[in-house]
Amino acid sequence: MMHTGARLSRRAFLGAGAALGVAAAFAPSRVSEARVPSVGPITRSIALSAGETELRLLGPDKPPTRILAYDGEPFRTIRAKKGDRLEIAFDNRMHEGSTVHWHGIRLPNEYDGVPTLTQPLVQPGGRFVYRVPLDDPGTFFFHPHCDETGQAGRGLAGVLIVEDERDPKFDAEFVLVLKDWRLAEDGGFLALSEPDGASKAGTFGATRTVNGKPAERLEAPANGDVRLRILNIDSTRVMDIGVEGAPAALIAVDGHALDPIPMDDLPDGIWRMGPAQRIDVALRMPGEGGTVRIGDYRAAEIYEFATITAQPSRRAARRFHPPGLPAARLPRPDLKRAEQLTFTLQQATDAAVKEAGLPPDDPLAKALIDSLCVGATAYWAIDQQAWPTGAQRKLPAPLARLKAGASYRVVIKNGTRFPHPIHLHGHAFQVIDSSSKRLPRHWADTVLVQSGETVEIAFVAAPGDWVFHCHILEHMETGMMGWFRVV
Ligand code: C2O
Ligand code: CU
Repeated sequence: MMHTGARLSRRAFLGAGAALGVAAAFAPSRVSEARVPSVGPITRSIALSAGETELRLLGPDKPPTRILAYDGEPFRTIRAKKGDRLEIAFDNRMHEGSTVHWHGIRLPNEYDGVPTLTQPLVQPGGRFVYRVPLDDPGTFFFHPHCDETGQAGRGLAGVLIVEDERDPKFDAEFVLVLKDWRLAEDGGFLALSEPDGASKAGTFGATRTVNGKPAERLEAPANGDVRLRILNIDSTRVMDIGVEGAPAALIAVDGHALDPIPMDDLPDGIWRMGPAQRIDVALRMPGEGGTVRIGDYRAAEIYEFATITAQPSRRAARRFHPPGLPAARLPRPDLKRAEQLTFTLQQATDAAVKEAGLPPDDPLAKALIDSLCVGATAYWAIDQQAWPTGAQRKLPAPLARLKAGASYRVVIKNGTRFPHPIHLHGHAFQVIDSSSKRLPRHWADTVLVQSGETVEIAFVAAPGDWVFHCHILEHMETGMMGWFRVV
């Protein structure tokens, strides 16, 4: 039992606002400014609301789908400049609680958007003001952190692009947001999670889209340079991104610059991208009339989601030297002195799923479960610990306690039969090793760990309470989430 429950009557407790009660039970961790980008004076104020809107996903003459979106705009895009300090007033106009998580952004913990852990759930009609410092240039996104399978599954996500004045000039830039939808013929949604999906590779959508359309038909100047920002914001699907018809190079992963790698030099010429991962690609357009094709080559049937046709231009053909992007100034982990921690991704055992207190249909349990934003059943765990599900409603102990400013090497072992894209909030980490693939050392905020694979990441711990979870949303909601306390 929560202690508050003993003191307050059930009615009084619920009347006081369950989210408030839960938030009060966890003292916010003290955040020293040392390693966290400080917010400082606000440079821009933005209003952001979450609500329903319509999108014709099934086709122009088929019934529309009522999706969720920020400001009524599918995948609302915020473009800002490196150094900006955004103040974002979030209004929840949906019928369920929500929060906003700024995926990949290094910010003070209190604005990280994890209900219970860093803030109370924003109830329908409620508001929360986020202050988001943008010190790292790149391609990021934002999304809810409660009932993500439901809310992000119905489309709630936005793109956050942080421009740097040192960015190389391109002749064209395209943002490509990849997401599948689980639709019925009448345009409504099919169940966004099925036990058979949640307990295995995930519940896949059959309607594939880019920017909410079946495909993008784009144009760019012949022999010109193009920048692609490709985001996999699907709840479930792992994609193999490749480019045909033009020399192309990978120039950033999860927003962070890396020494350009020609796509042809990558194994199989593709970059594998799990949910939440992003890449930036530079390419050189062919001569007039030529076409570049960008696709997901993983599926049995290649999903060609964008073509770019070369338009007449005065540019002459010349050799392609992929332009490097400016790097963010990130705290570099000291690999020699770093402490090493190992975590194993696994299926939940009964031991990981502690017995329940109140039955899940009890209103008090329901309110508490809502504010923890948990799924019904635990299928997954990290080191025998499953994030609470069902009627279990206590915040679990942290997976580890870390020292702010110290370097850590975290070894992630995948002991399951499925791939898991693992994300750590509030940090950029270096991907330093993999047992099964040759990877360039690069910065990222999400790393795909294949079945049986061991991946090692390293970072300098930033103060706060940060969740560490699989970004296959059903996996996260059915146990594969934990947190680090950094003080
Ligand atoms: Cu996009 Cu908790 O993450
Ligand atoms: Cu997973």
